[in-house]
Order: sequence, then C-alpha cells, then structure tokens
Amino acid sequence: MVANKKPVGVITRGTTNPNRLRRVDRYITNQAILKQTKEPLLVDLGFGAYPRTAIELLERASAINPTTRLLGIEIDPERIRVAQPFATNDLLFQLGGFEIPIPQTLNKTKVTLIRAMNVLRQYDESDVQAAWSLMQSRLEDGGLIVEGTCDEIGRLATWVTLDNSKVLSLTFSFRLLSLQTPSKIAERLPKVLIHHNVEGESINKFLTELDAAWASHSGLSVFSPVQRFSACVKDLLNSGWPITNTPKRWRLGELTVDWDAVKPRVVLL
Ligand SMILES: C[S@@+](CC[C@H](N)C(=O)[O-])C[C@H]1O[C@@H](n2cnc3c(N)ncnc32)[C@H](O)[C@@H]1O
Repeated sequence: MVANKKPVGVITRGTTNPNRLRRVDRYITNQAILKQTKEPLLVDLGFGAYPRTAIELLERASAINPTTRLLGIEIDPERIRVAQPFATNDLLFQLGGFEIPIPQTLNKTKVTLIRAMNVLRQYDESDVQAAWSLMQSRLEDGGLIVEGTCDEIGRLATWVTLDNSKVLSLTFSFRLLSLQTPSKIAERLPKVLIHHNVEGESINKFLTELDAAWASHSGLSVFSPVQRFSACVKDLLNSGWPITNTPKRWRLGELTVDWDAVKPRVVLL
C-alpha cells in the first residue's frame, strides 16, 4: 500500500534531538519480536524536522537483527524531502500518517513494530483511540506499537505498548543519576494519561506510591540511585502493583506495569 489518499493526521511541530529516544530504543531492541522476525520492518512514525532518531533506531535494531529495515513516515512533505538524502536500501522514507503506507518496493503489507514518540502529544486525547486502532490494523501477527513521550533530551520518557488488539503496558524510563522526584515524569505521560494524573485515578495512586517509596529509601542513595530505585520497585511489587519487567531493567531506570492497573477510569472516544 502506498499513500494515494490524504495522510491521516495533522502536521505538528517537528522538534527532535539526537539520541533523545535512546531509552525507548533500548526497550524496543529488547523485544523478542525483533530477534524472532526475519527481515523485521520497523516504522518511525513522525520522525520530525530531521531523521536522526530514525537513523539511530535502525542502527540499534540492526545490531540485534542485521536484517532489520526501517521506514520513516512523516505527514509533512518538507520533512520527507529533508530525509530523502539519508535513504539507503534498509532505510526508506514515505509521506503518510497513522494509516502507515508501505512503499511497494518493500514487498510487505504489514509492519513489525511502530515507534510513535512525541507524535500524539500534540493531538487531543479524543484522537488517541482512532490513531491507535488505525496503527494496530497495520501490524503483522505479534507486532507491537510503542507510543509515548519524552523530555527534550530524553532523560525522562514514558510509553504505552500495544499489540494488534489491546494495550499491554505502560513503561516509565528515568535517568536515575539526575532523578529528584519520580512523579516529575507525569509531565511526560502519553496523551491517553496526561490529563488523568488526578486524585481518584490509578496513575495518580501509582506515582504517589512511587514518590513515597523513593523518599523512604533516601538512605540508599549513599550507595547508588540504582539500588534506591530497585528497592522502590520491590516495594510497589509487594504492595500488589503488577510490575512485569525484571530487576535487570529496573537497574536501567525502567519500570513496566500492566496497562489495566494504571489506565484511566474513562477513556475519551
Ligand atoms: C515533535 S516531532 C517528534 C519527532 C521525533 N519522533 C522525536 O520524538 O524526537 C512530531 C512529528 O510528528 C509528525 N506527525 C504528526 N502527526 C503525524 C501523523 N499522523 N503521521 C506522521 N507524522 C506525524 C509531525 O509532523 C512532527 O514532525
């Protein structure tokens, strides 16, 4: 499928930064699907004013699976024009939107993984479900969407992971060395959650408990923020939060929790 209709979505600010998405890339390159798929096709949706983060994702994914190909999709034709000189056999750029058009030369009808970082942030919350559904319809079996937000230089990031039918999880990623208060990350929640960090919502309870655990383990910062953070995650697990990632990931400042435990009470449609 190649874009022959108007791309779905709107042009938004193209702000990006080199290496800004390293945390989410580290998560993506740890996904089993990347290793298991022959010639995985990754999509960087909304790569921004220049395609540096798309190039970085391909480099990182290729180190895990050398048969990886990456398709950068932008809704702004000017950004596609800027990216074209960087195209190679494994790195293509295509004008499009949430409908995820695939150039015929790739000989594929569906994609393995879509990374959409800092794209939905500039949309309304009521646009999220439709964008997710359209992207989900473009995933091959076992495919994933990673959709979220980060700060300007990628020290704080959050993202949701979806398969082709449901939302699976919410992941937080903190640069532990500069972490003061974990709930600061609330400013970078994915669009679906950012307006729900209020009393009575699960995401607010989760972040409040994370802050309390962080404060109670301040003594461990003498040893390292890594130990302090790991102790916090253990506390949250012990109090029943369905945290699904492993201590190895906690040491990277990454925390993944089941979506059902933190999703908004009401999702706007
Ligand atoms: C803030 S930039 C993010 C750049 C990069 N992903 C990053 O995180 O650094 C958002 C980009 O998404 C693009 N965009 C917005 N909606 C889109 C859509 N539906 N399909 C493709 N690109 C889209 C905008 O044109 C803009 O260039």
